[in-house]
Amino acid sequence: MAEETQKSPGATVLKDDQENEMTISELAASQRIVDENSVFKKPIIKIENVEKSFQVGKEWVKILKNINLEIYPREFVVILGPSGCGKSTLLNTMIGLEKASSGRVIVRGHDITNFSLDQLAEFRLKKFGVVYQRPDWIKSLNVIDNVSLPLAITDIPRKYRLDRGLELLRKFNIDHRANYSPTTLSGGQQQRATICRALINNPWIIVADEPTGNLDSDSADNVMKIFLSLNQDAKRTIIMVTHNIDYVHYATRTIYMKDGEVVNKKINI
Ligand SMILES: Nc1ncnc2c1ncn2[C@@H]1O[C@H](COP(=O)(O)OP(=O)(O)OP(=O)(O)O)[C@@H](O)[C@H]1O
Ligand SMILES: [Mg+2]
Repeated sequence: MAEETQKSPGATVLKDDQENEMTISELAASQRIVDENSVFKKPIIKIENVEKSFQVGKEWVKILKNINLEIYPREFVVILGPSGCGKSTLLNTMIGLEKASSGRVIVRGHDITNFSLDQLAEFRLKKFGVVYQRPDWIKSLNVIDNVSLPLAITDIPRKYRLDRGLELLRKFNIDHRANYSPTTLSGGQQQRATICRALINNPWIIVADEPTGNLDSDSADNVMKIFLSLNQDAKRTIIMVTHNIDYVHYATRTIYMKDGEVVNKKINI
């Protein structure tokens, strides 16, 4: 059986007694150690006994099974697990895109479980920056309009919304593509633009579902460096699903999932 060691609040590493290609101690050693003083003890997200079932035909299939998790401010959490184990469903439940069948999801002290769809949409826009595996552009809008779109629900005048969008595009070296149609950008450029869109509301929690899944290795490394800097320099909390075990090195904690459960040991993915 695997046992857990608490290195610092919210920075759990795993100790395992079974042999793996990469031992748990090696894996833990490769993770970044968070300065204990920089991590607050109060979780920013708390998931309590969450279960999620989907109806497939006449049957209900349980996809998430009794998940209990706490995410702390300034963590960089990587979620690893085989395809179909429920990673995206977990992420979507955390941000209120999916409603838990039972259990509670508490974000910054707010129990979002019983929020209405409108409340959830607004809450998501205000509290989270979300990056998906495939960019979901509004194709009739150019890059800058897409990037600044989340601000449209605020009463910030359009000029300022666009200024903020341009400032972000500049930061990520794609301001020269501001007036292009988003789908004409390269994969790496598009993903950087989706990160700009996720950051436009200045969120403290950034959630990313396989953000490098469709990128070549150089573009993927570049995107990972951006996430690292957002975590280390801008002090953002990052929760990222990936298939790439190498990205454990960027994380302060790795969560392994299998068959809808969080497991306390490294698994082969
Ligand atoms: N809306 C839905 N209706 C029915 N089944 C669903 C629904 N959404 C997800 N599932 C099922 O839940 C399971 C977990 O899906 P999920 O997308 O969370 O997996 P994942 O771990 O993110 O996989 P991948 O690594 O391939 O993205 C899959 O079997 C999927 O078919
Ligand atoms: Mg997925």
